[in-house]
Amino acid sequence: RAGWPGIIAAYRDRIPLPADAEIVTLHEGGTPLVEAKHLSGLTGSRVFLKVEGANPTGSFKDRGMTAAVTLAVAQGAKAVICASTGNTSASAAAYAAKAGLTCAVLVPSGKIALGKLAQAVMHGCRILQVDGNFDDCLELARKTAAEFPINLVNSVNPIRIDGQKTAAFEVCDVLGHAPDFHLLPVGNAGNITAYWKGYTEYAKDGVIAATPRMFGFQAAGAAPLVTGEPVKHPETIATAIRIGDPASWDGAINARNESNGLIDAVTDDQILAAYRLLAAREGVFVEPASAASIAGLLLTAADGRLPKGSTVVCTVTGHGLKDPDTALKGMPEFEVLPVEPSAVAHALELV
Ligand code: F0G
Repeated sequence: RAGWPGIIAAYRDRIPLPADAEIVTLHEGGTPLVEAKHLSGLTGSRVFLKVEGANPTGSFKDRGMTAAVTLAVAQGAKAVICASTGNTSASAAAYAAKAGLTCAVLVPSGKIALGKLAQAVMHGCRILQVDGNFDDCLELARKTAAEFPINLVNSVNPIRIDGQKTAAFEVCDVLGHAPDFHLLPVGNAGNITAYWKGYTEYAKDGVIAATPRMFGFQAAGAAPLVTGEPVKHPETIATAIRIGDPASWDGAINARNESNGLIDAVTDDQILAAYRLLAAREGVFVEPASAASIAGLLLTAADGRLPKGSTVVCTVTGHGLKDPDTALKGMPEFEVLPVEPSAVAHALELV
């Protein structure tokens, strides 16, 4: 949106940063809340998509990262570090570049979608591939930041959550009230924690009369919050949420319990079906992890846990261009045409 100042300026009194902090922003937030007509028809509810792929680096992480990097600069940090399945690292790299900080990212070797890696490369951060999964990377990042002079910008840093909660404010500001249900994908569980914090703050201050029920969805091969046990070897096509031991475990359970919500699992097949449906019928191209919220929408609408007639917001967390490999997988070979209108007409079956 033209003129949108970024989430810190938009919600300055609700984000606990030093008053004199110089804001590092790429004008993140202010993302579209798009009414999803096809999904509304399928579910019998009024469904909206909070399209977080429209953020500057293509994911919701920018909301937390503007806050984390602003605070790091205010504290005099020279370098930041994070563990990531790809989006946090892309965002950290961009904001660190803008702020002139050194940035190091720890990523699980071979398990980062191509677009995210390209972003980290272009923004000039130090990419350290680790022989382990995200959970190993996060442990390593935490230990490194505890021992050496480098600031941790994962969502275990509370200012990240305060940045990300602004998405809940925006939903309420646009609708004029909270939705009945808020659905989102869950990996490290920072985002569900952040949305719940945003909704409860608005409710406490009387901006909204009621809070939504929070429905979180994990990938079936990486669903520790559903099974109740950390998953040692998480696996899913949705690499962004390939996480076995979420750092904000308690925050997610608290959001579920306090909101009378649920956390359930969706299979990779359900995720991929929702991913394709969203692109083909709603015109919204997201990365696979983001489609977990839509897979969860279809699942809970079908079995009645999501009653018809509800107002529902699904957060779709990251842009589809992040992961071109998954989009192009199984694509038939292109036919090459001569420069000839009749050939085009023939290929389109117009004649
Ligand atoms: N969707 C996308 C596209 C993500 O990148 C992530 C997390 C999530 C959903 C889950 O959010 O962790 O707050 O529950 N990505 C992190 C990363 C782990 O490193 O980029 P969460």
